[in-house]
Amino acid sequence: MLTNKPNAGKKSMTFQGKNVLRFAVLVFCVSFFLVGTACRYDMQDQPRYKAYKESEFFSDGKAMRDFPEGTVARGQLNENKALHTGKKENADPNAQVETTTDELGNTIVSSFPNAIEKMPINVTKETLDRGEQRYKIFCMVCHGPVGKGDGMVVRRGYPQPTTYHDDRLRNAPVGHFFDVITNGWGKMNGYASQIPVEDRWAIVAYIRALQVSQNPEIKSGEADSTDKAAEDNKNETEQTGEAETQEPAADNGGAN
Ligand code: HEC
Repeated sequence: MLTNKPNAGKKSMTFQGKNVLRFAVLVFCVSFFLVGTACRYDMQDQPRYKAYKESEFFSDGKAMRDFPEGTVARGQLNENKALHTGKKENADPNAQVETTTDELGNTIVSSFPNAIEKMPINVTKETLDRGEQRYKIFCMVCHGPVGKGDGMVVRRGYPQPTTYHDDRLRNAPVGHFFDVITNGWGKMNGYASQIPVEDRWAIVAYIRALQVSQNPEIKSGEADSTDKAAEDNKNETEQTGEAETQEPAADNGGAN
């Protein structure tokens, strides 16, 4: 029998003691867990206003604060008027424009007094490649592969745009094309929300290239300045390349 063994009682005492300890640990853990979760207070529960809610705290009754006058979001100063609007610095909103009427009865504007004549960005081979790619994404469906206004959407019934290859648009300043892409023109809607500023200019450069390609007799000053800009750009990158290669050499000298 178990009770006959000399240390049986002692053994059962130890056993009970262990149980008590286990129970205590369990109670501690459970209560710690409960207390912990009960005190959880997330940031989303703190007092706060939702957008456009009213508030009695501010005199204008709005919880949302207006930006201080003249605030400009980082990167959106758009100081360069030519780059961001394609318009001259002292553009006259009431300037008289010449209009003609085409065979479809559209009113065609043929003078662009406020549009800038020179590209506000350096035009390089990369610019033209980018412009070609963007043109094929955004414009080709209507204007066709070379800008004759015979895109697939037009062949399926969309109003036909004017060709880029008449004297009016050949002589139109670059600012006009930028304005058309940015704000739309007649039946065409604007692409400002889909095409960033630099890409719009890249498309303009590509349209100029298309115009030259369809009319080899054009001897446009635009093409010359394009080449020069490309060259300037190349020189710049060459210089910075040199500066970079010199640095590691100096570092090595220090290590040895
Ligand atoms: C959904 C078809 C469509 C797309 C896409 C489209 N256009 Fe047009 N575009 C037109 C139509 C139609 C007109 C003629 C609008 C009018 O005169 O009422 C036009 C006119 C123009 C003109 C001539 C403006 C003038 O002075 O007569 C230019 C330049 C032009 N688009 C450039 C672009 C460029 C660049 C893109 C791409 C970013 C583009 N278009 C995308 C339909 C389109």
